[in-house]
Amino acid sequence: MDIKFIGVVGMGQMGAGIVEACARAGFDVIGRDINEDLVERGLSRIKGSMEYGVKKGKLAQADLEAALAHIKTTTTLADFKDCDLVIEAAVENMQLKKTIFTELDAITRPDALLASNTSSLSITEIASATERPDQVVGLHFFNPVPVMPLVEIVRGLLTSEETLEAARVLGAKLNKQIVIAKDNPGFIVNLLLVPYLYDAIRALENGVATKEDIDTGIKLGLNHPMGPLTLMDFVGLDTCLFIGDAMYQEFKDSRFAAPPLLRRMVTAGLLGRKSGKGFYSYG
Ligand code: 3HC
Repeated sequence: MDIKFIGVVGMGQMGAGIVEACARAGFDVIGRDINEDLVERGLSRIKGSMEYGVKKGKLAQADLEAALAHIKTTTTLADFKDCDLVIEAAVENMQLKKTIFTELDAITRPDALLASNTSSLSITEIASATERPDQVVGLHFFNPVPVMPLVEIVRGLLTSEETLEAARVLGAKLNKQIVIAKDNPGFIVNLLLVPYLYDAIRALENGVATKEDIDTGIKLGLNHPMGPLTLMDFVGLDTCLFIGDAMYQEFKDSRFAAPPLLRRMVTAGLLGRKSGKGFYSYG
């Protein structure tokens, strides 16, 4: 399968980043969200990110314009009928993802590949909503997508060798390093990240140190770009909770049990940067 035309379902933080990364790598991309307002927000996120790239000297103005020319948008999945690959980046809800995959299975060409950017849900289960589970694969990108150099490829139980190879080739064309994981909750990165993030909240709950000192300790002591509490604000506390809950459901392992403070903060709408307040406040 020679992938030339890529559809992306969802133009939120991750979906918009995936559209941008694909367009910058020269693919024709169509991004879809459920209404014009969300599509516009996704597009302005992409433009803002690329303008920032130009300002930082990482992208030529001509390349920004070339990338924009590769991007189309829509509010209807039917416009994905000619795509070689569709990457789903909708919210982390299994029922919703299965509905989307059943629709994509009916709309897209029989040889098209279907991928999910899920960070915690089973690729095998998502694939079961289609008649082509061998052509379904996980492509887990990291935020911010245009900057983060990794894509985790997740192999469902029925994902074929050909599909895996096409995903590998795509990763290389996107200039990403790839790692391959089996369909295990949390794959590689979140399997290790979630207990670490939750331990940081437990340390805060237990009064081990202030939030600033926990973050500074990790940033300067381990040379991480962000401390764990800042990172959770960046990813979104709701996303961190969702991923942990999905992993806890599978493993019943207390390492993935959300600390009470996290659940309370999500209930209170303290979601991090996206809501203006999480562990820290944002202007
Ligand atoms: N295009 C090209 N380059 C860009 C760019 C763009 N749109 N935006 C930023 N850059 C470049 C900058 O020029 C800079 O490059 P340089 O280091 O060579 O100067 C670099 O990217 C960093 O950007 P900034 O200087 O603007 O910002 P910071 O230095 O403050 O870094 C950050 C911001 C990249 C977000 C950094 O803080 C970081 O890496 N944080 C951790 C992010 C992380 O861990 N993400 C993964 C989250 S987990 C996840 O996504 C999985 C999910 O399942 C939970």
